[in-house]
Amino acid sequence: MPEFKTYSIDQIPFRPEEVPLRPEPRKVLMCAPDFFDIVDEKNVHMQGQIGHLDKQLAIRQWQSLLEVYQQWEKNGILEQVTVIPGVEGLEDMVFTANQSFPYIVDGKYTVVMSRMRHPSRQREVPYFRTFFKSIGYRIIDLSESVFFEGMGDLIPHYGRHLLYGGYGHRTDPGAYDEIARSLKVPIVLLPLEDPRFYHLDTCFIPADEHTVFLTTAAFSKTTLHGIKKLFTHVVEIPEEEAAGLFALNAHLVNDKKSGKKAAVLQQGTVVMKQKLAALGFEVWEVNTSEFIKSGGSCFCLKMMYY
Ligand code: ARG
Repeated sequence: MPEFKTYSIDQIPFRPEEVPLRPEPRKVLMCAPDFFDIVDEKNVHMQGQIGHLDKQLAIRQWQSLLEVYQQWEKNGILEQVTVIPGVEGLEDMVFTANQSFPYIVDGKYTVVMSRMRHPSRQREVPYFRTFFKSIGYRIIDLSESVFFEGMGDLIPHYGRHLLYGGYGHRTDPGAYDEIARSLKVPIVLLPLEDPRFYHLDTCFIPADEHTVFLTTAAFSKTTLHGIKKLFTHVVEIPEEEAAGLFALNAHLVNDKKSGKKAAVLQQGTVVMKQKLAALGFEVWEVNTSEFIKSGGSCFCLKMMYY
């Protein structure tokens, strides 16, 4: 079993199959979009978007995503969908992938609270801490010297106690040393090269134990080479789909309990949709155009938890 520390992608001394199995979470957490807004430029997608948000449309789009999850809950693909209220002045709180990282450690539900890079987003975190406290999670806080943006940058290997940590724009790699120790999990570091792919969840999404979807534009040659050693099946998505339509910000559910595979993503992709269908995912499309203006789509708008 690998040590609980960070690993550089070009020096991985283990195979994912050697890492212990992990149950996938089956609950979804969302945050109501009432106060969603674009008030500054936190990433390149937000450039020139201040004043261009259609707030009513955003609320309807968010509602359609919620309806997909409610449908999935009915179909038994998911166990539960919870919505927490938005807070006035917290314009990005709707992106619930970022404020925390829920996990399971020695059978105990545990959450690492994020340390967001932008002050306005730091104020979102206490609301999520309260939520996880209320459902009995053990809370882990990182030291004040590091930034960490939750599941936006830290993404699990499907079904294994192994994590991929993106860094370079928002999260500091040092955060992953602390997280690896507290969550007792090896973390593979993935440096992010391109500002359009500023969070790992914009460019990299594992679909099953052997498959990852990614866009090569986001990574260096060395990183891609390392990723190809860890996954036998690497599905490349064109950078226009990944950057323009947030194709890789899809939310994939590969549910062992119901035996169902479903994906929800921004409408209009061609390659992504086709590759998902080829792998047996039922594809659900929604329009998240207003959230893309802020640099996020389906994956960012939810948190999966246990
Ligand atoms: N405007 C938000 C920000 O820049 C978007 C966050 C999107 N979230 C994500 N997980 N990629 O922080």
